[in-house]
Amino acid sequence: MNGIKIRGTGRGVPARTVTNQDLERLVDTSDEWIAGRTGIRTRHHCAAGETFTTITAEAARRALEDAGISPDRIGACIVATVTPETMVPSAACTLQRELGLPEDIPCFDLSAACTGFLFALHTMECLLNASPRKFGLVVGAENLSRCIDWTDRGTCILFGDGAGAAVVECREGWPSISAVMGCHGSGELLRLPGPETENHSFISMEGTRVFKFAVEAVPWCVDQMLKKTGRTMEDIDFFVFHQANARIIDLAVRKYHIPPEKYYKNIAEYGNTSAASIPLVLSELREQGKIGPGSRILAVGFGGGLTWGGCLVEFA
Ligand code: UT7
Repeated sequence: MNGIKIRGTGRGVPARTVTNQDLERLVDTSDEWIAGRTGIRTRHHCAAGETFTTITAEAARRALEDAGISPDRIGACIVATVTPETMVPSAACTLQRELGLPEDIPCFDLSAACTGFLFALHTMECLLNASPRKFGLVVGAENLSRCIDWTDRGTCILFGDGAGAAVVECREGWPSISAVMGCHGSGELLRLPGPETENHSFISMEGTRVFKFAVEAVPWCVDQMLKKTGRTMEDIDFFVFHQANARIIDLAVRKYHIPPEKYYKNIAEYGNTSAASIPLVLSELREQGKIGPGSRILAVGFGGGLTWGGCLVEFA
């Protein structure tokens, strides 16, 4: 199978910032608790004309611009999300219209919670191998603020909205991203009911149990990726972890002795943005010049489902 590489990235972030102090006025919590336990200081929430669709389209447009690729060259579009604006049309179909993507290509949403973007990258690699058009648009986007139970201090402090996008290219001879991924069906640890199952669709989570799962899933993914690709830690230019809790990232950093210049945390600003978290990191790293042509990135995601996954992706 021919591999994909990232050509360009972009993001769409709501203007409204919600601080820990704002949340202190809603529930019994404190900036000290939130920052100390999670690393989060602010998060962005959609407001005043900003919607899932506006931030998603902004991320995708910027990724296309960054890649220098016109919409008519896109061979498939996948939006990883658990909070699309509408179930039908899918977010990807809405993007097809908004961006003027070709009509003879697959556009669909993918639901794998916080691992969604990596599941989507893997799916895109498979699709582009069978497509005459060799560029793909992969988006991770969430509007989690509308699924928050504002009386539950265990979850309402965690989540933010945002969208990140990548334009990828598939070429003969390029190495596969060698994705590893898995899932273990669990209804109670992390849950976001659909509209037909319960009156209100709020996120609920058994945080401590999910934390324990995460600190095992991350090294499992890193080890599997290195084994599958035959790479060593030194071969990796940058480690990108799902931003669910700074302490989960810190544990991985300590375990693998990852130097500060090879990993990144933006959870302080964004909180947990689920499927958007990894592409938001990629887009900021790209903008800051920390990754670019030739960079080899090991990305790891984990979350609801439960799901987990890793891939080794290069910048074209
Ligand atoms: O992205 C998908 C994957 N998600 C994750 O990986 C999230 C993983 N889990 C976590 O990040 C952490 O479990 C949380 C940040 C969600 C919670 O941190 P924790 O250290 O596991 O806290 P806890 O739930 O065990 O609660 C400890 C205490 C409890 O009080 P008592 O029972 O010890 O008196 C909670 O009621 O902290 C209390 N607490 C809070 N206190 C102040 C829970 N939430 C808050 C809060 N402010 N917001």
